[in-house]
Amino acid sequence: MLKLWKQKDPDAKGKFVTYEAKNISDEMSFLEMLDIVNQDFIKKNKSAVEFDNDCREGICGACSLVINGIPHGAEMGTATCQLHMRTFKDGETIFVEPFRAKAFPVVKDLIVDRSAFDRIQQAGGYTSINTGNAQDANSILIGKKEADQAFDYAACIGCGACVAACKNASASLFVGAKLAQLALLPQGQVEKKERSKRMVAQMDKEQFGSCTNTGVCSAVCPKEISLDVITKMNCEFFKSLL
Ligand code: SF4
Ligand code: FES
Repeated sequence: MLKLWKQKDPDAKGKFVTYEAKNISDEMSFLEMLDIVNQDFIKKNKSAVEFDNDCREGICGACSLVINGIPHGAEMGTATCQLHMRTFKDGETIFVEPFRAKAFPVVKDLIVDRSAFDRIQQAGGYTSINTGNAQDANSILIGKKEADQAFDYAACIGCGACVAACKNASASLFVGAKLAQLALLPQGQVEKKERSKRMVAQMDKEQFGSCTNTGVCSAVCPKEISLDVITKMNCEFFKSLL
């Protein structure tokens, strides 16, 4: 049994609709299950439930659903598109809701507007120096430890689950991952100070809350970004003020 959140537009009052999903196999992903449900809605001349998705490979960050109260569902380190129906019990009631945070307004049904993340990224989450062509890559030596660590931080797909899970709707895990990744690399040094100031200022402007170190952000993160990045963000930010 599904309880699906339906909301006509950003200003409308949303509500759960109940739907009994049939012919769902264990092998289906959660999004494939929703495709089947939508085919049935369309056949019955009912409006499909809108949800966001793109890659369906766990790399784009779009599949932003809250499943039974947990962003991306209860399976650890898994994006919604990689979640399989075999993780649910036969006959289980599943609640499907959009991410709920002031900075992520609902667009329709299960789709939220996460462009606040884009604006934070545009505020400084890049390097503007010329890093050379492909053949130059090995001329900038980076230690294995730093490279591995930066790669782990770069795994953040910008899905926003950390915000959705946080009681303060803090974006610190996302911003921390971006800042920590670039702070470790030689290419990231040139704009390091400005980047920290600008990204943190934009995060505040977008009305994300403050971090109170609860840790649920890291627990729900499909890429298992470590809480260390929040310490690194604070460290980078304070250093940028000196
Ligand atoms: S830190 Fe994790 S939960 Fe937050 S946006 Fe990145 S991948 Fe998603
Ligand atoms: S659809 Fe791209 S991460 Fe899930």
